[in-house]
Amino acid sequence: MKLRVEELEVGRVMEATFWVNPQEGSRFRYRATHLDGKRAPKVVLSNDARIQPGVPCLVAIVRVDKPDRDDHGHVEVSYVRPAPFRIEGVYIDPVVSKKLQILLESGLNILLDGPQGCGKTTLARSIAQTLGMRFVLFNCGAVVEASDFLASIQVRASASGQPITDFVKTELLEALEEAREHPEVRYLLFLDELNRCTEGARNALMPALDATRKVFHPIENRFLAIPENVQFIAAVNRGSEFTGTFGIDAAQLDRFAPLQMDYPPPDEEVKILRARHPSLGKALVERIVLAADAVRRSPEVPGGLSVRATDEACVYLEHPLMEGDHARMLPEVLKSSFAGRYAGRWGDADSDAGAVWAIVEASLKESA
Ligand SMILES: Nc1ncnc2c1ncn2[C@@H]1O[C@H](COP(=O)(O)OP(=O)(O)OP(=O)(O)O)[C@@H](O)[C@H]1O
Ligand SMILES: [Mg+2]
Repeated sequence: MKLRVEELEVGRVMEATFWVNPQEGSRFRYRATHLDGKRAPKVVLSNDARIQPGVPCLVAIVRVDKPDRDDHGHVEVSYVRPAPFRIEGVYIDPVVSKKLQILLESGLNILLDGPQGCGKTTLARSIAQTLGMRFVLFNCGAVVEASDFLASIQVRASASGQPITDFVKTELLEALEEAREHPEVRYLLFLDELNRCTEGARNALMPALDATRKVFHPIENRFLAIPENVQFIAAVNRGSEFTGTFGIDAAQLDRFAPLQMDYPPPDEEVKILRARHPSLGKALVERIVLAADAVRRSPEVPGGLSVRATDEACVYLEHPLMEGDHARMLPEVLKSSFAGRYAGRWGDADSDAGAVWAIVEASLKESA
């Protein structure tokens, strides 16, 4: 897969990932070898200060030096804009992806809202990786008091048997302190399950998220400024009992740019699962995903059905113990992997699990 020189018209916009040019004395700081994923016929060089090494971007061709020599010359390009996110093994809705990229560039706090297991955590982690940001995950579910965000108290016995109280810093506090020492590194602090912590604790975090950008340091008893190189993403995990509500009040919500996510479309989910379970046939994976899709669309079923559930079904079916018996085992697997995630039993038509099983059974019949 090599590009031809004739394909490199001046003005054409292509994607490239640059690294610092190893050539000593070159007037170009950045160098790439590929354009649009294909090997370029000459080295691609640029001096544009907006280029970040290792981060894919779109560039425009400015000049092709020595076009008729295949052993010499270079392609000079200028920076256009960051490349659209494309993360291996992760589906991102194109519109969500654009919005997310803009929010990350602007430094605004982001609130990812979507049904359980639709990829909120996966997405945030992958984006941090692609942008070369340090990703720190903090689960807010266990936070009861404001100080729990930054420290936990641990009691141990001293040599004399007297109890000693230690303050242990949380990952969040460690990241904030580290960020101050490394202004050159960008930190993405992920506040997972923000709706699960207590209201009061969440309120105490609010000044960290608005223009004040300060939090109270419970160990040193002073306010800690949030460094510029720190950005927050929060996710709300809506279990079935939370459908339609967040438990986050308007003033708290207002400190975030909200971004809605949903399950990948069925064909994309099939791709994700097939990449992970290559030994399973396409038709089988499609049947699993179609059944999940039917459950997710049903207005009778509360909450979502995670990609974890479809993935789990694939884990079962690709096991040697199931070999040659997929037709019989598929419904059995979905009884536990799908219906088993809901209240009640699959055999009880009046329960949520029973409603899910009825939908799955109908879908399997249709796709048979
Ligand atoms: N869009 C996606 N692309 C690739 N994998 C996905 C996607 N969505 C979900 N998954 C897979 O599904 C599983 C659950 O995803 P993840 O933990 O990111 O969901 P979540 O929205 O954060 O869930 P929760 O609401 O429970 O926190 C992971 O194994 C993940 O790889
Ligand atoms: Mg999550």
